[in-house]
Amino acid sequence: MGKDVIIALDFDSKAKTLAFLDQFTGKKPFVKIGMELFYAEGPSIVREVKARGHKIFLDLKLHDIPNTVKKAMAVLSGLDVDMTNLHAAGTVRMMQGALEGLTRPDGTRPLLIAVTQLTSTDQESMENDLLIKEPIADVVMHYASNAAKAGLDGVVCSPLEAGVVHDKCGKNFLTVTPGVRFADGDIGDQKRVMTPAAAKEIGSDYIVVGRPITAAADPVAAYERCVAEFVD
Ligand code: C5P
Repeated sequence: MGKDVIIALDFDSKAKTLAFLDQFTGKKPFVKIGMELFYAEGPSIVREVKARGHKIFLDLKLHDIPNTVKKAMAVLSGLDVDMTNLHAAGTVRMMQGALEGLTRPDGTRPLLIAVTQLTSTDQESMENDLLIKEPIADVVMHYASNAAKAGLDGVVCSPLEAGVVHDKCGKNFLTVTPGVRFADGDIGDQKRVMTPAAAKEIGSDYIVVGRPITAAADPVAAYERCVAEFVD
């Protein structure tokens, strides 16, 4: 898989999701299914969107003991998703277990990406709530290195971190970056944003785009604009 735009299907029902996808006649964008839609509709929504021909990033951010994550990942792999994720805070051993569980009998598996520190966590909450005293940038890079050590394919990170993650973990270590906005668009609740063109420039491998596409007057045109800036 190469550079691509992933649309975040942040909807709370199958009806809204399929009505949104129906607008993309003849196109099969890579899509992200997160907790909201998965918990609303269950695994059947993954099967249905997959059967329509879309690649799927299943964004459930697993974090539990290694054996439980390994077995849960085996189930997700059976759903034939293309990419999924977990929290690097679950330790290297948990990430290794996840990879084992994800690997299918024929040796293939979905891409596995780690969340380092959530972008909603800042230095203050990390120090006060988690008792982690190091600078947050160092913690993010340490978790990214752990993910690479465990054999994962990459991390979810801010587009602003994509360059340094590649420098430290190698250019083939994937950076999947949300927080993307058009230069003339609303930033909403995202704090540190980048345009699709800037994300391409800094070396993001995949951009995850939600509201700039899902809330656009013309979602197909907004998607095509992202592709034109980021991929073409
Ligand atoms: O609407 P918007 O473009 O902000 O959506 C971004 C998507 O990426 C959402 O599904 C959000 O949950 C996800 N995400 C994020 N920041 C992270 C990890 C995931 O915005 N650090």
